Amino acid sequence: MKNTTINTEHFWMPFTANRQFKSKPRLLSKAQGMYYESEDGRQILDGTAGLWCVNAGHSHPKIVAAIQAQATQLDFAPTFQMGHPLAFEAASSLVSIAPAGMNRVFFCNDGSEAVDTALKMALAYHKLRGEAGRYRLIGRERAYHGVGFGGISVGGIAGNRKQFGPALGGVDHLRHPLNLQKNAFSRGLPLHGAEMADELEQRILALHDANTIAALIVEPIQGSTGVILPPQGYLQKLRAICDRHGILLIFDEVITGFGRLGAAFGADYFGVQPDMIVCAKGLTNAAVPMGAVIVKQEIYDQFMNASAADQIEFFHGYTYSAHPLACAAAIASIEVYKEEKLFERAAELAPYFEEAAHSLRELPQVKDIRNLGLVCGIELESQSGKTTTRAFDVFEKCFWEKDLLIRTTGDIIALSPPLIINKEQIDSLFGRIAEAIREQAQQ
Ligand SMILES: Cc1ncc(COP(=O)(O)O)c(C=O)c1O
Repeated sequence: MKNTTINTEHFWMPFTANRQFKSKPRLLSKAQGMYYESEDGRQILDGTAGLWCVNAGHSHPKIVAAIQAQATQLDFAPTFQMGHPLAFEAASSLVSIAPAGMNRVFFCNDGSEAVDTALKMALAYHKLRGEAGRYRLIGRERAYHGVGFGGISVGGIAGNRKQFGPALGGVDHLRHPLNLQKNAFSRGLPLHGAEMADELEQRILALHDANTIAALIVEPIQGSTGVILPPQGYLQKLRAICDRHGILLIFDEVITGFGRLGAAFGADYFGVQPDMIVCAKGLTNAAVPMGAVIVKQEIYDQFMNASAADQIEFFHGYTYSAHPLACAAAIASIEVYKEEKLFERAAELAPYFEEAAHSLRELPQVKDIRNLGLVCGIELESQSGKTTTRAFDVFEKCFWEKDLLIRTTGDIIALSPPLIINKEQIDSLFGRIAEAIREQAQQ
């Protein structure tokens, strides 16, 4: 066992209770395939693909080799009025797995930037079409769209408003569709609640006037705030309402992209085509940060047709848009997904994963289990007056005593293992969580 002597004082950790963490640091120092190695030398089963992102498993040799080779070839090249071949190749590679007709790609560095990029595109698109009055953006309660000002505005997380205020104006939110009274312990998509989509027309559009709305942004599955699944038919209804009123539909697929549901994108899985897809995470298997917005050609064309060929059409971009290392990682990751048929694998494993997840139903304090593809949420009864403590106890128990990494949000455990997981590891994952939940309930 290694003795940890690192100085933890200078790193201000993101989304972390810094003082609590630093009093007993949970450190990961290596990773391979389905496992992390903790600083004290334990093999930790990865139940969360890092942070919903390492879909092909850790340190995949092909992705590692691609990054290493690229680092010696071209470290950086600007993509403002310049370019490098890999940027174009990475975009084509992404288009090769994107829904038909979605064939133009804007690169950024993460999900938050991709969200803000998509929102800006939506606003500019309407202006270019002569509909500058469409300035409103609609999100949903309990949505997570990253941490940019656009993302926190359309996101529906109270903590953001408490700490940063209302951010952008001209934003409204639909209610989220989680309904435990009607849908607890649903297997796959919940049966009840498609009519929640009608709120878009009945309340939001009635209140604001449809002609003022630029875009609706939704996560096909609300992941970060606790695995909230769309009821059957709900996303289809949203699409139809957006179509009726000329509103762009943006799918934030930062979590659902790259095989999580057993198809390349949630759009494929649900058979609903958005106008834009926001993605990140699995795009590079998380080996190098990268995000992207994939749009329908018509949106790109609108920008191209609106100005002279020597004018910059979209006044937006990042120094590291299409960074060569990220491009190398994206191309290699997409090849791995195809060669190893990982999206198909996720689809094949989903029923087994579902069965294993629902075997925890009778455990103490388990209030709901919800699942789709290789995603699962286990909601626990909160301890009186304290949301988060029960699930966090289970999380700590899993890490220190069960050699397992899970993720929690509020009192919900969220699971999203790499798509390379096998059946034995699925049994082990849920077996270890069951032990931790039982033991926690006895405390
Ligand atoms: C749906 C969704 N959108 C956006 C983001 C933000 O991505 P990033 O943390 O890469 O900025 C996340 C992160 O988890 C996410 O789940």
